[in-house]
Amino acid sequence: MKSINSPFRYAGGKFYARKLILEHIINHNYYIEPFCGGASIFFAKDKVTDNWLNDVDDELINTLIVIRDHPNELISLLKRRNCEISRIPTELVQNVEIGEVMPALKELHTFFKNEYMPQNDLERALKWYYLNRTSYSGIMNRQNMYWGYGDKYSMQPKNWGANILRTSEKLQDVRLTSLDFEEVIDQAPDGAFLFIDPPYFNADQDKFYQHFFSRNDHYRLLKCLKNNKSRLNIFITYDNVEEVRDLYSWAKEMYDKEWNYCIQRTDDQKEKTDKKGKRYKGKELFILNYLS
Ligand SMILES: C[S@@+](CC[C@H](N)C(=O)[O-])C[C@H]1O[C@@H](n2cnc3c(N)ncnc32)[C@H](O)[C@@H]1O
Repeated sequence: MKSINSPFRYAGGKFYARKLILEHIINHNYYIEPFCGGASIFFAKDKVTDNWLNDVDDELINTLIVIRDHPNELISLLKRRNCEISRIPTELVQNVEIGEVMPALKELHTFFKNEYMPQNDLERALKWYYLNRTSYSGIMNRQNMYWGYGDKYSMQPKNWGANILRTSEKLQDVRLTSLDFEEVIDQAPDGAFLFIDPPYFNADQDKFYQHFFSRNDHYRLLKCLKNNKSRLNIFITYDNVEEVRDLYSWAKEMYDKEWNYCIQRTDDQKEKTDKKGKRYKGKELFILNYLS
């Protein structure tokens, strides 16, 4: 099945590194991401027979489940006509035609972030999807979530419906769970291919996600991967620091990789940048327990 972009903006997402990563993925029939986030690699690669996406963040997984199983209901809820049903104040959408998707507005972002109380899984997905598409860099940790939408650089609401539908198609028959990574890795069937993209080793980066990933969790991951290394094909991407190199010295291949990415002006809260956006370099280690 064809390559598409992740439906979400996601902090630490691997969209800009996807070509470099795909080069090292070997043939497999069972594909698993225990730390899926926006799952940019799953969406970029060919879909195989069995697929399992997992993330401890159950709001993210609920949104993926709703997109997989009820895409049209979610699209319908995003429309002006249904604002009364989902209890969105009509004054926030008064300039929108009946039947059009609600606009990307700072006031609506604030409302969803601070006031909206979802009453079912569909409404939880509505809230998460709206905030994800309109927050700075897709940072979904409430303390660090800010308005960050720009018409020129972000996906416009009129395209959200198509985004949800193509995502739903690719997610059909995909197993979606919200478990701790250890359960997933231990349960992975022999011969499965695992793409492992944990939160960064550098603790600063932890502000991005809903669940804190401690130093102890990094060591727990190491132990779990070592226990399973002879029966699974494992690709890990981690920040490029000496301690990680030492911890994973048992791997069969290790590469220093760099790629360019940019954060667009409207996505950037502090810095003024030129039209092309501010440029950054991603620098990570690719760690493989197989020969690619
Ligand atoms: C670097 S992000 C993954 C990004 C993803 N590869 C992408 O392309 O968007 C790491 C993810 O690990 C998740 N996570 C944190 N602690 C976890 C745990 N104990 N078990 C499973 N997932 C966890 C976070 O919620 C976050 O979505």
